[in-house]
Amino acid sequence: MQLLEKDRKFLGRDSRPRPLEITKSRGAYLFDKRGRRYIDFFTGWCVGNVGWGVTEIRDAVRKFNGPDYVSPGYLYKPWAELAELLAKMTPGELVKSYRATGGTEAVEIALQAAMAHTKRHKFVSVEGSYHGHSIGAMSVGDSGFREWYRNLLPHCHKVSPPLDAAAARKVEKILSKRDVAAYISEPVICNLAVVIPTREYFDIVQRACRKYGTLLIADEVATGFGRTGEMFACEHYGLRPDIMCLAKGITGGFGALGATIMTEKVAKSFEFSFSFYSTFGWHPLNVAAAIANLKYLRAHRKEILTNANEMSRYFKARLLNMRFRQPAEVRAVGLAIAVMFRGKEGYGGKIIRRALAKGLLLADAGSNDFVIFPPLNISRAVAKRGLDILEGCL
Ligand SMILES: Cc1ncc(COP(=O)(O)O)c(C=O)c1O
Repeated sequence: MQLLEKDRKFLGRDSRPRPLEITKSRGAYLFDKRGRRYIDFFTGWCVGNVGWGVTEIRDAVRKFNGPDYVSPGYLYKPWAELAELLAKMTPGELVKSYRATGGTEAVEIALQAAMAHTKRHKFVSVEGSYHGHSIGAMSVGDSGFREWYRNLLPHCHKVSPPLDAAAARKVEKILSKRDVAAYISEPVICNLAVVIPTREYFDIVQRACRKYGTLLIADEVATGFGRTGEMFACEHYGLRPDIMCLAKGITGGFGALGATIMTEKVAKSFEFSFSFYSTFGWHPLNVAAAIANLKYLRAHRKEILTNANEMSRYFKARLLNMRFRQPAEVRAVGLAIAVMFRGKEGYGGKIIRRALAKGLLLADAGSNDFVIFPPLNISRAVAKRGLDILEGCL
């Protein structure tokens, strides 16, 4: 049976697969079964932040010689080591990590923790956003999910972009009723084609959260670990969240792992009285990958972030000079980049398909846009080659 036939018969999917069979990944490239090389401008949606195949991380995974599995109730040294690393890396007073298998679970834990801490059950989030595919995560996501699932959490207020002072005042008004457990959003909303809130927006929202006893949850599943040119996107706004959700770039793709890190105050309020049990949360092999990846990221922090910011300027300048066939808005914070079209739907998708045929991988965040999330250490030469391909697709 051919692969496509077998895939169609046995694999559940939410859309047709792209016509590309991946067999290898290295640096800023993916390879298909014929050995054809593709420039990877989306790195699995912010997973491969340090590029694919980094020797130090690969070796740590290959040479792993620890236990096959450790049940959550035991002690395991690398768990404490990884949790300590996260506490050192994240901003503000985040200190205690709960173990998750990925981003959805990290968000789910955050929502439940906010409810347990505040004894409230309402949320505020950004309309159209994405936080994962559990019932809880979908409840704070796009309102469209409600048409499909009738059992989402009932009280999730949504604020719509633009995320400016006026939007923040609306959030403030909702929070003033003192019945909202948490405000949750990405600091820079990658899932809405890189919506960039104003500084004022978060100043007002953060102040209102403090004033009315609402927790601030930063979903940094996509933006975390350097994507926006700071280690965490919260740092652009001076945000000090009560809870932060992490996954994706935490292992650089070498393992499946998520974390929900929170302040001591929040964690202490339900310690040992609330369960976030996850059988495979922080599986030893994935923890080895995460530690190796984070050590690499910390050791090369300066050059990786400097490169991300330099390349951001280069991508932006090139994209602003491209002759798109529709009016286009270019949005970029670090290497979270999107081009949003303001014309007939489908143009963005057409560019993505043409780019794939020419050896460049892009993704979309909606119906008429494309996003670019390249490795943070991408060289100028590879960035140029990819952008030249893109220009040739217009
Ligand atoms: C911001 C954000 N939160 C949560 C998730 C869910 O993460 P996962 O797919 O690891 O469950 C995603 C996934 O794309 C995401 O981008």
